[in-house]
Amino acid sequence: MYSFKAVAIVSGLLLFPVVAPLKLNITAIGASHGRSTLECWQLDDPFSPSSEPGSAAGPYTAQLGDLSNITYTFIPPNYDQGFHTAPWPQWVVFTTGLAHITLPDDNSTGAYIFGGEFGVIFAADTPDVSLKGHRSQYPGDMMSIGLQIPTKDGEIPVHDILHSGPCKLKESYGLRELALNVSLS
Ligand SMILES: *[C@@H]1O[C@H](CO)[C@@H](O)[C@H](O)[C@H]1NC(C)=O
Ligand SMILES: *[C@@H]1O[C@H](CO)[C@@H](O)[C@H](O)[C@H]1NC(C)=O
Ligand SMILES: *[C@@H]1O[C@H](CO)[C@@H](O)[C@H](O)[C@H]1NC(C)=O
Repeated sequence: MYSFKAVAIVSGLLLFPVVAPLKLNITAIGASHGRSTLECWQLDDPFSPSSEPGSAAGPYTAQLGDLSNITYTFIPPNYDQGFHTAPWPQWVVFTTGLAHITLPDDNSTGAYIFGGEFGVIFAADTPDVSLKGHRSQYPGDMMSIGLQIPTKDGEIPVHDILHSGPCKLKESYGLRELALNVSLS
């Protein structure tokens, strides 16, 4: 009788594994004590499947919040934008190219953002919180394209800071793992 019960509990666990909700991690330019920072943010809104629950075959969606407007920016190859603050809190979605973001008085590597699948960042180092801002360089002979999308009313998306420094590539593999049903880390 007892062993039968134990088996039932075990199979229950197998049928309903406890899986933490999958959330989007993005590199963000924040600010602390008047200086811009690079941080890996985990956004609060979890992905939910838009198809039948339990099936990994369909699309997954996460809500990124309300927006204000959108600016399409074409950046020529080998361009150095220099140090600047974010004009307002905004998403920047790089669709192609390569951006290299560094911080003043900081000799770390900074963040390399490749356009495409993992090209979404958030810039929150506005002049009221950051004196010098950050430097954006677009090295190499690729053109870059960025969509700048300020949030409505300058809202900062709700997030946890996973760590300082940019997100690592493997911190973006969650959706691929889910879709392919493999572990990539
Ligand atoms: C775009 O949005 C920003 C932030 O909300 C606002 O300050 C700016 O005036 C808007 N630009 C245009 C062209 O509407
Ligand atoms: C960065 O600079 C500091 C002093 O400014 C130095 O102590 C440190 O070794 C440097 N780090 C690297 C990786 O060059
Ligand atoms: C975000 O990071 C967490 C912790 O590293 C990871 O478990 C999760 O899969 C990542 N999310 C995505 C969408 O890759």
